[in-house]
Amino acid sequence: MQDAIEQAARTLASAPDILVLSGAGISAESGIPTFREAQTGLWAQYSPEDLATPDAFARHPARVWAWYSWRRRLIARGGPNAGHRAIAELGRRRRVFVATQNVDGLHAAAGSTDIAELHGNIWRDRCTRCGASETRDVAEPVDDGPVYCRSCGAMARPDVVWFGEMLPGDALETAQNALERAAAVIVVGTSNRVYPAAALVDAAVDSSRPVIEINPDITPVSDAVDIRITSAASEALPAMLTSLDAISANG
Ligand code: OAD
Repeated sequence: MQDAIEQAARTLASAPDILVLSGAGISAESGIPTFREAQTGLWAQYSPEDLATPDAFARHPARVWAWYSWRRRLIARGGPNAGHRAIAELGRRRRVFVATQNVDGLHAAAGSTDIAELHGNIWRDRCTRCGASETRDVAEPVDDGPVYCRSCGAMARPDVVWFGEMLPGDALETAQNALERAAAVIVVGTSNRVYPAAALVDAAVDSSRPVIEINPDITPVSDAVDIRITSAASEALPAMLTSLDAISANG
């Protein structure tokens, strides 16, 4: 494993621009369940049709809000981990753009600044009537019940992408532009199964850029990436940073 980490660090050492494509696995060690893992994944325990579609929200808003409130509490309790922090640190050494499928806001909480949130942000509410959006403070207590718009009083919804919905505004385009600029790509903690986000990974693999995958498990692109690191993100990313610093120090 150390070999793969050193090889990845050497790749990053010659890459002024780096794109990080992240998914639920990077937040797993903050105590936030992933989606597709057998037993522990959210979709093994809950049905997306009941909780993550516009139709589910229209029929059972209180149930949907209770689930998102529970997830907000988990995220607030967990906070960013060493993996998120290592990516933020990398951003102080290189130009780093993060395109994440995560809605938890933990890349920003760790200090990353250039981020496209492809599936929205769980801390932002969007009014179902007037469209006003408001970002909640992580420190605010989270009630279970529906959240109401502070401007017009109608019910708000979590500003995340539900099944069957489009990705927000220009998030995908911004991420595609970041891929064009990137000299290396890190794909971390995603099963690479959900499109269109997974199309960015496919495009990275199809391009000539070196792709580093960090995932203890195999994914549809594992055979095609240039470097595979099979340890957890919170170990692999800090180790890669340490190795990069050693390379830089030795000129
Ligand atoms: P998944 O749950 O599909 O995949 C999580 C991946 O993280 C798996 O491949 C795990 O092997 C890996 N993993 C687990 N622990 C890890 C660790 N400590 N370090 C590194 N990797 C680890 O999550 P996503 O690919 O993010 O969308 O799922 C994509 C989308 O599916 C989500 O954004 C969500 C969901 O439906 C929406 O809600 C729209």
